[in-house]
Amino acid sequence: MRSHGEVTIGEALQRASLCLREAGLERPRDEAEALLMHLLGWGRLALFLKRSAALPGHIAGAFKAALQRRADGEPLAYITGEKEFYGLSFAVNRAVLVPRPETELLVDAALQWARPREEKIRGVDLGCGCGNIAVALACHLPEAAFFAADLSPEALQVARANAGRHGVRDRIRFEEGDYLDAFAGLQPPPRFNLVLSNPPYISSGELKILPAAIRDYEPLLSLDGGPDGLAAYRRILARLPYFVKRPGLLVLEIGSTQGDAVLALCREQPLFHRVALQKDYQGLPRILTGLF
Ligand SMILES: C[S@@+](CC[C@H](N)C(=O)[O-])C[C@H]1O[C@@H](n2cnc3c(N)ncnc32)[C@H](O)[C@@H]1O
Repeated sequence: MRSHGEVTIGEALQRASLCLREAGLERPRDEAEALLMHLLGWGRLALFLKRSAALPGHIAGAFKAALQRRADGEPLAYITGEKEFYGLSFAVNRAVLVPRPETELLVDAALQWARPREEKIRGVDLGCGCGNIAVALACHLPEAAFFAADLSPEALQVARANAGRHGVRDRIRFEEGDYLDAFAGLQPPPRFNLVLSNPPYISSGELKILPAAIRDYEPLLSLDGGPDGLAAYRRILARLPYFVKRPGLLVLEIGSTQGDAVLALCREQPLFHRVALQKDYQGLPRILTGLF
């Protein structure tokens, strides 16, 4: 039964899709459903089966507020506080970049190399954000040990919580600091044979023209790659020889126009015996691998 003035879940979803379509979103129905599922704590099937039930009053207000935030351009993941990456659900907030599907290619490349030597792997994720890379790898490589660093203490708090959520907290050592230097004070100093990073790689010029949904909401520290977007790669590559255990693999995510520049930076570094680029689903260079 529903009383006068109440709307059904189905009607609320229809209105919400319209509102998000008018705001210019590409998948308004999916996003409206995702917001409502989050608020109700239901899955998609329950939402469908109960579409004729009345939308509870307290949810109606929260749904309206969430729709307004989304229509104003806030990323869906910051509103729901969740993002799926490599089949796992990660908590996110505005201290961390929302994990992107391209970054799953980095995890694929790392797993392909690491699986046959799993028990010898000492991996490190530089600029771990919400911990998606290290946590996904730790889940898939239960015999391996991982380290992860970020300059942001708030991001590390999210990453630690995500490691706990997925049961790998005791296999990832988190340190606050500047990429590899975050581990310089540890005794004995760790050596890594799997070095991973999706660092900030947007150049100062590109930062100004980023879509507002990114520029106005995601942390600048996770985006800003300095004047030419390559500052983080230079920093990581300069310190790498002091922290590696051979044989090993470096896997970097790069901006789609940065392939040649990051390849050149790696070739200046005598550490590597082979460097290569891998393309993403759109055919753009996205992952650099370096064997050392
Ligand atoms: C592009 S985000 C990547 C986050 C996450 N690894 C992912 O793939 O979604 C880059 C991360 O690097 C961190 N970062 C920026 N400068 C850093 C530095 N000098 N040392 C360590 N981490 C840094 C940022 O705080 C941010 O979390």
